[in-house]
Amino acid sequence: MKRFNACCSQFIIFALFITSLSARCHGEVELDVAPMEKAEKDALYSTIQGFVGHWWNGSDLYPDPCGWTPIQGVSCDLFNGFWYVTVLNIGPIHDNSLSCAKFLEFTPHLFELKHLKTLSFFKCFETQHRHQVTIPNANWEKLAGSLESLEFRSNTGLIGKIPSNFGVLKNLQSLVLLENALTGEIPPAIGNLNRLKRLVLAGNHFTGHIPDTFGALGELLILDLSRNSLCGTLPLTLGSLTSLLKLDVSHNLLEGNLLKEFAYLKNLTLMDLRNNRLSGGLTLSIQEMHSLEEMVLSNNAIGGKFRTLKWENLQNLVILDFSNMGLTGEIPESISQLKRLRFLGLSDNNLTGTLSPKLSTLPCLNALYVSGNNLAGELKFSVEFYGKMGTRFGAWNNPSLCYPVGIMPTSYAPYGVKPCQQEIKFVESDAKNGYMDMAFHSMASSGFMSHVPNGFWWTFLQEILMMGLFMNFFYIIF
Ligand SMILES: *[C@@H]1O[C@H](CO)[C@@H](O)[C@H](O)[C@H]1NC(C)=O
Ligand SMILES: *[C@@H]1O[C@H](CO)[C@@H](O)[C@H](O)[C@H]1NC(C)=O
Ligand SMILES: *[C@@H]1O[C@H](CO)[C@@H](O)[C@H](O)[C@H]1NC(C)=O
Repeated sequence: MKRFNACCSQFIIFALFITSLSARCHGEVELDVAPMEKAEKDALYSTIQGFVGHWWNGSDLYPDPCGWTPIQGVSCDLFNGFWYVTVLNIGPIHDNSLSCAKFLEFTPHLFELKHLKTLSFFKCFETQHRHQVTIPNANWEKLAGSLESLEFRSNTGLIGKIPSNFGVLKNLQSLVLLENALTGEIPPAIGNLNRLKRLVLAGNHFTGHIPDTFGALGELLILDLSRNSLCGTLPLTLGSLTSLLKLDVSHNLLEGNLLKEFAYLKNLTLMDLRNNRLSGGLTLSIQEMHSLEEMVLSNNAIGGKFRTLKWENLQNLVILDFSNMGLTGEIPESISQLKRLRFLGLSDNNLTGTLSPKLSTLPCLNALYVSGNNLAGELKFSVEFYGKMGTRFGAWNNPSLCYPVGIMPTSYAPYGVKPCQQEIKFVESDAKNGYMDMAFHSMASSGFMSHVPNGFWWTFLQEILMMGLFMNFFYIIF
């Protein structure tokens, strides 16, 4: 940016000089000395007109669109003394950005911009225009030498498949096709893009398998295939992505086992596999992923014992969401060694045994959900713990769990957990208390959950973490 500004100010002086010259010579001169080739200028204008509409006319951008009268969304750089377009962002990113026409097209001139490094389309192809657009398959090889970042984001009218010809873009470091209406299978040729650092195909309608060829993306930092309809098993080749920081394949139809090869992902900080059909129990490889900060496997039919893993190995864990996974057995005390843990979600499993009071010694713990299990016995947390957690401690729907009465104000009592005294009276078959007990349970299981703001909390926490990750990513790339 700085370099560009320096170029810019130099150029402004230059341009002013040219302007005064041309004023004296009545035109013509600027065409010869304008530091942008006509072919480049024409290609740019025609490309922009294709997306923005033919009303748009760059001829008032005197003497060229790069230096003096820049177009919002277009950046340039000098190559051999001439301006070339290096960045083209189409769509309403800023108030005065180029916004897209109702009927738009990819003109072939786009592919004549021979130093184009970054091309992005944001909210450009929209369904309300009733004009759906596919990405052209041809000509991408012309950008193969220069293009480093290609992005289509939030284009609800962008349909069709990913062009397999994207596989020629050897210099691509970032491919983002986020929240469009793309369909079909992911072309295996994407695996050719071996300089990719970021591959985001989330929020489309992709089907079929995750290509094996992704294993060749050895420099990949972020892989996000979430919110599609991908099926089949996780390819073993994911284990080759040893640089990976973030793996998100959540909200798909993936099945089969967790991979032994996960053990090779030593730098992974986020693993989100939630809302799939994975099964086969917890693999021991997970305990080798020492850098994991966020592990979300909820809403899968994984099954098996929760205490299988050496949890104390995962010292960086901040978020652990293992809700609704068919887990059995006890919650091991080793969880209380995860000193950075902020969110622990184990709801809707079939966990048994007692809840160790040591969990309350976790210094950062902000949310603990164990509702919908078979936990039993008396809760032994301190009064301060209930006070601190409030509704972010969820333990309802554990029929044999109770909290001790008399040690704390009733407002601290955990929702949906009965007081231990009542249990004793119930055992003594006091008819009146038995009735109250049942009434209480039906309240706990119906509607109560929707009042707990854990959705909000979860989103908020995730956003903070994602921002952290995002900033890390930029730090690494730039
Ligand atoms: C822009 O308008 C001028 C005259 O108004 C015309 O001569 C020129 O061909 C137009 N350029 C484009 C790119 O349409
Ligand atoms: C993992 O991260 C470390 C520290 O950031 C880095 O030095 C190392 O190269 C990374 N490993 C891989 C395989 O990228
Ligand atoms: C939970 O575990 C108990 C005992 O192991 C078993 O009887 C019960 O069927 C399980 N419930 C579910 C929903 O899996």
